[in-house]
Amino acid sequence: GAESKIVVLGNAGVGKSALVVRFLTRRFIWEYDPTLECTYKHHTTVDDEAVTMEILDTAGPQYTIHREGHVRWGDGFVLVYGINDRHSFEEIQNIKQYLDDIKKTNLMCVLIGNKSDLCHERKVSYVEGQNLATDMACAFYEISASDGGEEISELFHELHREIKRR
Ligand code: GTP
Ligand code: MG
Repeated sequence: GAESKIVVLGNAGVGKSALVVRFLTRRFIWEYDPTLECTYKHHTTVDDEAVTMEILDTAGPQYTIHREGHVRWGDGFVLVYGINDRHSFEEIQNIKQYLDDIKKTNLMCVLIGNKSDLCHERKVSYVEGQNLATDMACAFYEISASDGGEEISELFHELHREIKRR
């Protein structure tokens, strides 16, 4: 079957682990447990094809951004910020720049504005997210790892399709 290697990047606390765990188990974790680094192997079906996704859940960029190996390992990247965290949104551009510097061609990524349930704390508008995704030529989803929903599976599946299409 097909394989894809997916790396989840973004500032500390934006919900990378919650997102990955929600995708893999359909459950949500409320506790905050800073991640060092964790890889999951997930067997699933995308468009009737058996697929193995390897997902690397990283720690915040203060630990990972200089780990060139992660970037070289990955076929696709999930770039996560919190809609309630302006700084995490600004950091996305630095992460993207770093990816571009290392992977020169055909960089596959999706941009995720997480914590959409915290709309009363919103610091980044939907349109700002959309515009950044347009600049980076990637798909954009606003999601909530806590609410779950189909779009979380959809974003991983869509990234897999993009990787295969390359
Ligand atoms: P590091 O591993 O330190 O880089 O952080 P992380 O990006 O993996 O964040 P994590 O998934 O641990 O989530 C941080 C905190 O935010 C936890 O308390 C989560 O429960 C909470 N959280 C994650 N996603 C959401 C969400 O969509 N909505 C709300 N309300 N809280 C969330
Ligand atoms: Mg984590």
